[in-house]
Amino acid sequence: MELRGVERADIDGKTVLVRVDYNVPLSGGEVADDARLRASLPTVQHLLEHGAKVVLISHLGRPEGRVVEELRLAPVAVRLGELLGRPVRQLEDCVGPDVSAAIEQGSTGDVFLLENVRFHPEESANESGFARELARLGDVYVNDAFAAVHRAHASTVGIADHLPAYAGLLMEREVAALSRLDDPERPYVAIVGGKKARSKLGALRDLVPRVDEILIGGGVALTFLRAHGAEVGDSVVDEGLFDEIRGVGAAAEREGTAIHLPEDVVIGVDLSPEGEVRTSDARAIPAGWQGLDIGPETIERFTERILAAKTVVWTGPLGAFEVEPFSNGTRRIGEAVATSDAYSVIGGGETGEAMARFGLVDRISYVSTGGGACLALLRGKHLPALEALRS
Ligand code: 3PG
Repeated sequence: MELRGVERADIDGKTVLVRVDYNVPLSGGEVADDARLRASLPTVQHLLEHGAKVVLISHLGRPEGRVVEELRLAPVAVRLGELLGRPVRQLEDCVGPDVSAAIEQGSTGDVFLLENVRFHPEESANESGFARELARLGDVYVNDAFAAVHRAHASTVGIADHLPAYAGLLMEREVAALSRLDDPERPYVAIVGGKKARSKLGALRDLVPRVDEILIGGGVALTFLRAHGAEVGDSVVDEGLFDEIRGVGAAAEREGTAIHLPEDVVIGVDLSPEGEVRTSDARAIPAGWQGLDIGPETIERFTERILAAKTVVWTGPLGAFEVEPFSNGTRRIGEAVATSDAYSVIGGGETGEAMARFGLVDRISYVSTGGGACLALLRGKHLPALEALRS
């Protein structure tokens, strides 16, 4: 997909509105993971070097259209200022006369960060009046919020009707990396994990006709196993999905896509790191125990499939990687992906966090900043925010 890149924009002396995705974890009033901030720096620096006044627009969390104190962007402005080496001025709101006046009084080289755009319900509703109000704050619009590209909101879609719109450098990089999966080298293997089967089922359904094999772990696997009659003890499963899961299985059979479920799992009574840990047949987990990671035989079999692949995509950890006794599956599969010669793409969020924790990020072909956005693109979803940036 050809995007209209920011390099083509006339920005000298202009006020440039940049939609970024600074939806980052906060802890104790500070940014706990600044990867998304760092990923936005090339675009911000490019704009500053070319004589722009920069106004950043972001959401944080899901405040549902009202002001939520804990979801203010002030800690982000502080961290961004440190990374940029210049002050970032945090404004009290994202629209209104005070906001326009502050921006108008600024000069070339100034960086402003608007307050959480989701404090206004009109943002998620993509309300046109609100999009116009945002657009009035600048002369040019740049969308660099790849992680929010699957959201058709005022600051990602509506605003582009009112200003010349361009893709930021991160947006271009993400789309180029993921476009390589449109015509993948085969075998093409998808690894799907994560706690909640519900959030992955649509993706699984859409991946079936696109890939050759799917390796399933995490909570998703336990719901799949249970849907096929396995005893999974006290593992967390989503019974409402069983019919749909059987439908995915039938589609995979029709398409000739192999679905690999775990043969063995690491189990615990709960998530406590001090509790007893055992390995169990994945289809016969005793009552009172839960599956919390994939087991050694499964790791071996999944590793074989990954090493034979030419393209690998991965979304969702394969176990509770944040608790030591249950981190092995995600770490070892991460190492297999890092070792393989395949073109490998990892969807952001928790899987990216796990790769960072295990020091594997640099050995993966591409780690996306987007979780849901990355999946939406892999699934071939229509993304209006991207359409607005096509050249
Ligand atoms: C993300 O973190 O995936 C993006 O910022 C999108 O957030 P959302 O799912 O709340 O729209």
